[in-house]
Amino acid sequence: MPDTSPRGLTRLAFGGDYNPEQWPESVWQEDVRLMREAGVTMVSVGIFSWALLEPAPGAYDFGWLDRVLDLLHSHGIRVDLGTPTVAPPAWFYRAHPEALPVTAEGMRHEFGSRGAICHGNADYRAAAAAITTRLAERYGSHPALAMWHVHNEYGVPVSACYCDSCAAHFRRWLATAYGTVDAVNEAWGTAFWGQHYTGLEQINPPRATPTVGNPGQALDYRRFTDATIRENFRMERDILHRLSPGVPVTTNFMTALSQCDSLDYWAWGREVDLVTNDHYLITDGRRTHVNLAMAADLTRSVAGGAPWLLLEHSTSGVNWQPRNPAKAPGQMARNSLAHVARGSEGAMFFQWRQSRRGAEKFHSAMLPHGGTDTRVWREVVELGASVDSLSTLRGTRTEADAAMVWDWQSWWAQNLSWRPSEDHDARERADSFYEVLYDRHLTVDFAHPEADLSAYPLVVVPALYLTTEAAGRNLTEYVRDGGTLVVSYFSGIVDEHDAVHEGAYPGALRDVLGLTVEEFSPLLRDDRVRLTGPDGEEPTGDVWTEFVVPRGAETVWTYADGLTAGRPAVTRHRFGRGTAWYVSTRLDTRGLDAVIGRAADDARIAPRADLPRDVEVVRRSGEQGSYLFAINHTAADAKVPLDGPGTELLTGERAAGRLAVPAGAVRVVRLDG
Ligand code: GLA
Ligand code: ZN
Repeated sequence: MPDTSPRGLTRLAFGGDYNPEQWPESVWQEDVRLMREAGVTMVSVGIFSWALLEPAPGAYDFGWLDRVLDLLHSHGIRVDLGTPTVAPPAWFYRAHPEALPVTAEGMRHEFGSRGAICHGNADYRAAAAAITTRLAERYGSHPALAMWHVHNEYGVPVSACYCDSCAAHFRRWLATAYGTVDAVNEAWGTAFWGQHYTGLEQINPPRATPTVGNPGQALDYRRFTDATIRENFRMERDILHRLSPGVPVTTNFMTALSQCDSLDYWAWGREVDLVTNDHYLITDGRRTHVNLAMAADLTRSVAGGAPWLLLEHSTSGVNWQPRNPAKAPGQMARNSLAHVARGSEGAMFFQWRQSRRGAEKFHSAMLPHGGTDTRVWREVVELGASVDSLSTLRGTRTEADAAMVWDWQSWWAQNLSWRPSEDHDARERADSFYEVLYDRHLTVDFAHPEADLSAYPLVVVPALYLTTEAAGRNLTEYVRDGGTLVVSYFSGIVDEHDAVHEGAYPGALRDVLGLTVEEFSPLLRDDRVRLTGPDGEEPTGDVWTEFVVPRGAETVWTYADGLTAGRPAVTRHRFGRGTAWYVSTRLDTRGLDAVIGRAADDARIAPRADLPRDVEVVRRSGEQGSYLFAINHTAADAKVPLDGPGTELLTGERAAGRLAVPAGAVRVVRLDG
């Protein structure tokens, strides 16, 4: 069993991507000196260095990398060493142009950026295996080596390739998955629009078609693509395990739902030794710290609750969004430490030294263009000390209060064309449910729909359009055994082939919800309906309404207008020893909060009314003790009640009773005992 934590790292990880090949060697000495000043413990090296390491086919130049690793080692800095297979050299593409990926429209990409890879291409696989083997042989037992960083952000910027060789792979994949062409016809429903195939060789990837293509084909192509990319990861990982035993292997995920939608990270989480993640704020005006918390919770869940590592985030602005604001003073530390609160074993950045050339020169870094006499540098040095002061919490686990069901495959299916409304967006539902739970100061684990949910008093299902029979049974049993479930509309509708479950909607969840849905009735843009309910509460809904027929469920809120006026809008069903709520419209935040509040009461979750909004409180605990993180995202000083006395680790002060958390500050208390 390979280790799961960076080898030889005795503190939390603090550092970033280090690209010394962009700088003359004279700069490297200053780099390591400043890394020590900032408290850097680990850097990621060589992620894009293939062209420099193998300047001609089979001719290697490891001298510069030898010197980099030795220099880092002599300064006590651990190395997360990249395999550079996301950036094959120009000579490789000249020899193998068919390794460049092809779009659904038939356009072949060009060399000159990064990540232009057809993952089904045999020459690419052979070349990636060769460079990985050479690196593993040379550095597999280098004393600086802490872990292996395979590739970079699989799944972006190109996810699927539609070339002829991928078409051939796809047919083989279908043969394995289905056996016969008739089974494919059945699963995809090709009787529709005369799409029937009489031989597997007639099947292509879902390339551009005059109008909407077959949904089963599109969904299977996403599965095939994910599996193909994962095969390439496994190939590199197995080489590294063989030649560099005991050193953990990772690849950096991007679990934020807005940043990568092409990989099924539930499957990927089982393949890596250590889950690592990259996270960037999407600065479009939303509460970015909520989105950050959600991505961190999702990453921890992909890691099965075990510690994970934040491998990239930014010290300040990025340069790839339409507008890239700088982070406010203190915001970097709040961001970094929120990841740590939610299970990260450190905080790493893209990148160490800001580039002078290339596409990312306006992306912030630990060491900015302006050098050390800058706000960013001073905050980096301060953060390094803060992270170091938390090192005893390594190995502790974040405590969760509730779970949210999430499934990438269901999301893929949901996003296919010709749904009842393009305004319904599964990711938006997940974001909104998460935000309501966040504002109730509940820490959320994410769970696969077929996972054991029995540990959670409350489980929310924001949008699970594709619900397998097994998932339906799982959610049903969860409630029968005493759980509280909240399900949002357009869940439980289709099976794994995007075929509607038999009988009335929502086929997979009818029994547990105690209702059927006769018809969906999406609303026009900007239309709203009013709801009437208990205690005179009158929330509104938009985007979606339904004709709900209770079959055991009680109506809690009723539609007051619109086509569905007089019909149930929100229902509650006592089932077995538990309770299942159903929300048939896109409730406004107040309405959604009211439903979650009632469901939390059913689940006997005590409200945290004593905590101010946007003061994030999260606990990590383990054998070494219990740690309370309090992150004040507001401009006002706050007080956070403590369960008992302890030591505040960032200031070293004793803390008891109500902990003072100044505006914009972070406090971490290690509770006594
Ligand atoms: C990604 C990549 C990095 C860098 C950053 C910039 O996460 O992995 O190489 O491009 O984005 O934000
Ligand atoms: Zn291809």
